[in-house]
Amino acid sequence: MKVAILLGSVRMGRQTHKAAYYLKERLTNRTIETDLIDLAEDPLPVLKERVGHHPDPPENVMDISERLHEADALLLVTPEYHGSVSGVLKNAIDYFWSEFQKKPIGVVAASAGGFGGINASTHLQQIILGVGAYPMPLNLLVPRIHQAFDDSFEPQNEHIIKSTKNFLDEFLWFADALHQKKTEDQEYEEEVA
Ligand SMILES: Cc1cc2nc3c(=O)[nH]c(=O)nc-3n(C[C@H](O)[C@H](O)[C@H](O)COP(=O)(O)O)c2cc1C
Repeated sequence: MKVAILLGSVRMGRQTHKAAYYLKERLTNRTIETDLIDLAEDPLPVLKERVGHHPDPPENVMDISERLHEADALLLVTPEYHGSVSGVLKNAIDYFWSEFQKKPIGVVAASAGGFGGINASTHLQQIILGVGAYPMPLNLLVPRIHQAFDDSFEPQNEHIIKSTKNFLDEFLWFADALHQKKTEDQEYEEEVA
């Protein structure tokens, strides 16, 4: 099982990356191979055309496509901007389609205030349906993100430790169930071929 985390916060002084790096650490701790795609490190320009339609895809597009393809399950991490997902995350998602097909996806949203990006999280679940993937019902919401982690991405309160653990337990159950079904289907197809 391989997990990719797609991080949609690139702002100067950003905070949401702390949740993404903490999740990566937690997954690695559970011996899950995890690839963090940080759009601040591997930026994608404003979409002019999708993978498979663009005659000469911009830098990073095919690399990210491959990394998404390799993942069995995904976590999408977004700050809440004006009541929705970040533009940079939506722009990145719009490049891809086959990369997401039938994959289990968990949503993580963060905000400066007390609601933890709840509006962004429900919009993101809707977007996940739009790209033919399966949004997990339970989201991870991170309120007061500025105080939730220190600069080394260590959680600063019990709530975030517990909610992350619950979220990852649920996510890995969900991802594993689909992974097992796909493995069974593949084995059957090889048998009858
Ligand atoms: C353009 C913009 C719009 C924002 N809109 C909201 C919002 O609608 N609701 C909210 O709770 N926080 C909002 N915030 C504050 C973010 O929650 C805050 O910046 C937080 O640190 C998470 O975003 P970051 O990863 O960019 O730091 C907004 C911030 C920016 C930059």
